[in-house]
Amino acid sequence: MSSVFQDAIANLLSPIGDLLKDPTVSEIMINGPFEIFVERKGMVSRVPNKFADDESLMASMRAVAQRVGRVIDADNPRLDARLPDGSRIAVVIPPMATSGVTVAIRKFSEEKLGLKDLINFGSVSPEGARFLDCIMYLGKNTIVSGGTGSGKTTMLNVLGGRMPKHQRLLIIEDAAELQVKADHVVRFETRKAQPDRGIKEVSIRDLMESALRLRPDRIIVGEVRGPEALDLLNAMGTGHDGSMGTVHANSPTGACTRLETLCLMGETKIPPDAIRTMVGSTVQIVVQCARYHDGGRRTSHISEVLGVDEHGRYVVRDIFRWVQTGKDPQTGKYIGEMVPTGYVPSFFEEFVSNKLPFPRTSFKPPEWAVAHLKKAA
Ligand SMILES: Nc1ncnc2c1ncn2[C@@H]1O[C@H](COP(=O)(O)OP(=O)(O)O)[C@@H](O)[C@H]1O
Ligand SMILES: [Mg+2]
Repeated sequence: MSSVFQDAIANLLSPIGDLLKDPTVSEIMINGPFEIFVERKGMVSRVPNKFADDESLMASMRAVAQRVGRVIDADNPRLDARLPDGSRIAVVIPPMATSGVTVAIRKFSEEKLGLKDLINFGSVSPEGARFLDCIMYLGKNTIVSGGTGSGKTTMLNVLGGRMPKHQRLLIIEDAAELQVKADHVVRFETRKAQPDRGIKEVSIRDLMESALRLRPDRIIVGEVRGPEALDLLNAMGTGHDGSMGTVHANSPTGACTRLETLCLMGETKIPPDAIRTMVGSTVQIVVQCARYHDGGRRTSHISEVLGVDEHGRYVVRDIFRWVQTGKDPQTGKYIGEMVPTGYVPSFFEEFVSNKLPFPRTSFKPPEWAVAHLKKAA
């Protein structure tokens, strides 16, 4: 947060200055001037910090808005912006926010988590990680699915960094969050409309249209939240193998349904059945992120989407799943691990022909997990 501190808003944000500086705090939530919560290591707790009153909190938010070239007032009661250091801030003010000025700050962390971190946290098993590497290498179209704060962006970032380095990547986001390390990356960011300044909106759809003309090998859409879903599926189906995006859904099948719904939000003349078939045939892998009740973020599923059956249902098979075996009585943390389910993906031949270091036997679940997998299925 250092760059924020150097400028004028630092003073106004001083009631939460210690939280902004504290690297163990990943998110700050303000519900009116006197009620502030933080997230540390996945757990949310209340802190004693307070703003003096409604007006001083409002003044801070006006200053933040001004600093990022925006306005927050009765006509513009919502702000969704990125602070100079990359942190994301979302604000809603009364009367929409009935309990007072409401703010959430998702702090930018300098050290982005890597695949090794996810393994160390137990969010992915070493084998699961190796499998993800293989699918990135093979260019499987991958959707990262999960709820808010479940680790989608982190996962997308990690996966993006595992793509073959020589490929031309085109990244489209609402607010630049991804920091994919590759040799050849082009990044686009959307722009919100500001009618009073004559600034027109540039949407993800608009940027997708341009992107396709710019010869990308793969396209990454940070968050698929609207009809751009259709553009992404089109790109996936027309030679941009290995494209990716995140969607907000609670299961791999839910991710497919969500994409379908988003496609239909656009003015499309494609009938719903055809959209479903398209989702089923273009999306190949869903990586499901989840935030569990113990505060832990884990990759709950890595699944293959095989298509749509004769009843119009998605055919999705789990390749890996996180299974819980217990709970630490002291910390309350869940005990468990990610295991293969025994299902061998339909494209396994490509592993063999590309000599990828992932033998067929690695899809076999360990003996102890078999009963757990049956129970959860
Ligand atoms: N597997 C994980 N284990 C622990 N923390 C994680 C994990 N994945 C993400 N995080 C942390 O959780 C927070 C939210 O992650 P993010 O990827 O932004 O979620 P989303 O995009 O789903 O909203 C970030 O602070 C991130 O560093
Ligand atoms: Mg995200």
